[in-house]
Amino acid sequence: MEIRISKTTQPKVKPPEAELGFGKYFTDHLFACDYVEGRGWGDARIEPYAPMQLDPAAGVLHYGQAMFEGSKAFRGVDGRVRLFRPEAHARRMIAGAPRLCMPTPPEALMVEAVRALVKVELDWVPRSEGTSLYLRPTLVATEGFLGVRPSREYRYFVIASPAGNYFGGKGLKSVRIWVETQDVRAPRGGLGSTKAGANYAASLKSAQDAKKRGFDQVLWLDGKDHEYVEEVGTMNVCFLLGSTLVTPPLSDSILAGVTRDSVLTLARDQGLTVEERPISLKELRGAQQSGELKEIFGTGTAAVISPVGELAFAGESLVINGGKPGPVAEQLYTAVCDIQRGLKPDPYGWMQLVD
Ligand code: COI
Repeated sequence: MEIRISKTTQPKVKPPEAELGFGKYFTDHLFACDYVEGRGWGDARIEPYAPMQLDPAAGVLHYGQAMFEGSKAFRGVDGRVRLFRPEAHARRMIAGAPRLCMPTPPEALMVEAVRALVKVELDWVPRSEGTSLYLRPTLVATEGFLGVRPSREYRYFVIASPAGNYFGGKGLKSVRIWVETQDVRAPRGGLGSTKAGANYAASLKSAQDAKKRGFDQVLWLDGKDHEYVEEVGTMNVCFLLGSTLVTPPLSDSILAGVTRDSVLTLARDQGLTVEERPISLKELRGAQQSGELKEIFGTGTAAVISPVGELAFAGESLVINGGKPGPVAEQLYTAVCDIQRGLKPDPYGWMQLVD
């Protein structure tokens, strides 16, 4: 499908790279295309970034038919811009959308959309270490209709946001985590394995309560027994037990993280034993007591790796690696970032040159 491009006549002033933060600034353009049942996807376009018109009865506003992705473009040390695993992100949306009865554009169009947008916004890809252009593909139901059934019209759009190091400054910083033993992010049989906006709505209250208690985020447990670990904050989670990296196995309540997959691949290739298996709070407590629990970290696109320095429950606290980022988290973080910035060879074919 051809992508029509109309450029802005009023480009924005770009913010200083040191002030980027995460998700605060948006580039000059967006990609969009629309779906109508019976006609399929059409009207692929790149146009000036602007508020969009939506029927007040649109399905996304009432019944929450909404999904998103998060991927990144990086400016390498050679100055050239590369996308990180764009097909993996497109495929995850394609895999998740049927659970929400949503159609997606074909994989090739989704990858081309991101690539074409980044090409138009090349000047927006920041240069400093730890920065990137964060890409947010989004799929929403647009038909104006109040009956409870899948919408017959959708919009897929991609916006782009220059992003700084997730932790501010350089390198990694440990976070303090509250173990959520009441509310759940996603039940078995629910939407948890999809990047549905609803999962994030379900997570906000616990995160807010954790912040009120002085913590950064929560550890999510399974919705049935409230015993097995699922995710941490908005990320997948890994535990270093002795010299084995353990992470919960993918299920219908856990997101198949692209960073999770990348980190597990690198860990295996660096000689670590990786186990994808259920891990309970009881096992974690035991491993802490015996000194086996060396490190905990989250993996996700935004932060790449987020070390956990403390895990707290009511009346109990496990301090991990003296509250500091551990060597395995550091080593895996460096390995991912070196590939993303073109500092090291990319034997996995993860990076796609844009310019
Ligand atoms: C990620 O790190 O991949 C996320 O999903 C975080 C994003 C929702 C800001």
